[in-house]
Amino acid sequence: MPLVSDTQHFGSVAILNSCTGCTTCRVLAPDIFLEARRTSRDPTIFTEVAGRPLRSMEEAEQVREAVMACPVHAVKWVKRPKTLKARPLTEGYPKLLDENVYVGGPPSKKLFGGASYLIVGQGNKRGRNILVDTPDPEEALVDRVRALGGLDYIIFTHIDHVSLHRAWKEAFPNVQRVMHADDFNDDTQDFEIKLQGGETARTADEGIHDAAPPLVCSLPGWEDELELIHGPGHTPGSIYVLYKEKFLCTGDSLHYSRAVGHLVGFRLQCWESWSRQQASWRRLLRHSSAFSWVLPGHGEPYRFPTPGEARESLAAALQWASGFPDGRTPSGRFRLWATTRVTSRRKWLRWLADNLVLPPGSRLAIPCYAGPAGAVSEGGGGPGSGLGAMLQALCKIDRGTGVALGLTSFVLGVAVGVGWAEGGRRGARLSGG
Ligand code: SF4
Ligand SMILES: [Fe+2]
Repeated sequence: MPLVSDTQHFGSVAILNSCTGCTTCRVLAPDIFLEARRTSRDPTIFTEVAGRPLRSMEEAEQVREAVMACPVHAVKWVKRPKTLKARPLTEGYPKLLDENVYVGGPPSKKLFGGASYLIVGQGNKRGRNILVDTPDPEEALVDRVRALGGLDYIIFTHIDHVSLHRAWKEAFPNVQRVMHADDFNDDTQDFEIKLQGGETARTADEGIHDAAPPLVCSLPGWEDELELIHGPGHTPGSIYVLYKEKFLCTGDSLHYSRAVGHLVGFRLQCWESWSRQQASWRRLLRHSSAFSWVLPGHGEPYRFPTPGEARESLAAALQWASGFPDGRTPSGRFRLWATTRVTSRRKWLRWLADNLVLPPGSRLAIPCYAGPAGAVSEGGGGPGSGLGAMLQALCKIDRGTGVALGLTSFVLGVAVGVGWAEGGRRGARLSGG
């Protein structure tokens, strides 16, 4: 358990190894919580604490937010400063990022730490704001969005981030909810705009564009500065939202990694196809519009000094991504893996989950930031070494029949049940932090 020593009165904090790498704490306290590297003490963790004491009450405040926001309760006070006041997480949101673009609200636990962004309309678009993905619809936050002019559109970058759409629709009954057709499911059938094709999207009652789908479209009234770019790979209907040729909201398809030094993607959480995700990046690279801000669903908002450097970083991401095997992580297997990680601290159980539940390509992404080269060259107990490699090979052989997976899942299911009970007891012990 990495921790910061309490040399002053600002408290100390630790991250449990149940962390699943959602990036929330790194966004809220970027100088305290860092992406883990292959050289980290535990090669299977995602986030670690900076090896220095907390320096100020401001940092303690950031840690307080991270403790409240971590969706799996993996950020824990070892010692909480006595002077720290309880405040709602939504205070200060929407938070201005640059020009008229805001961070919509704190990362939502219900979206597993997913971020949201608010574009406040200017000029002839005054009062016609756009929310890209949603924060929790807490009353105070909704009131502040209303004070900024309300909402015309909510654009969902992909299906993973829609679970709060009804609450926002209730708060803003005239808002039009937008998503790409390829991500629609039973719960989203009443969305007002279904993106399909490359011209200006039409509302559902005007009919849906059926033409061969070019990659880019816009929304009525926003054609001069908003582009919605289809970018499948993470999910079939993932889109990029490009505003003013400057702000690129990327959903879960692309984000900046400080540890690697360029844009990267989530190979572990690639639900559809890693090769398709790279093809989308290539199309984005060829696309004539520029961008300099990258605003991800998971990860830190990052501004490149110039659009040229953003493109270079995207090219580096493609080079980096080609080192991972193609494939995807089936969401059921991911859920089993995540449940195991969150509920059990038994090393053997976590090792089984890493090595047998996840497909071979996906497990190389633990943690994803060092990339596949790190997994091969550094070894040292990581998922690709020794007995792990042997079991990976076995897993490949058995993958076709599903027998090994079925048996393993059964064993893990029983063990997770035991782990869950243990976790509950442990949680009770830690809850005073
Ligand atoms: S699960 Fe997310 S918020 Fe929690 S410790 Fe890990 S990266 Fe931080
Ligand atoms: Fe996602």
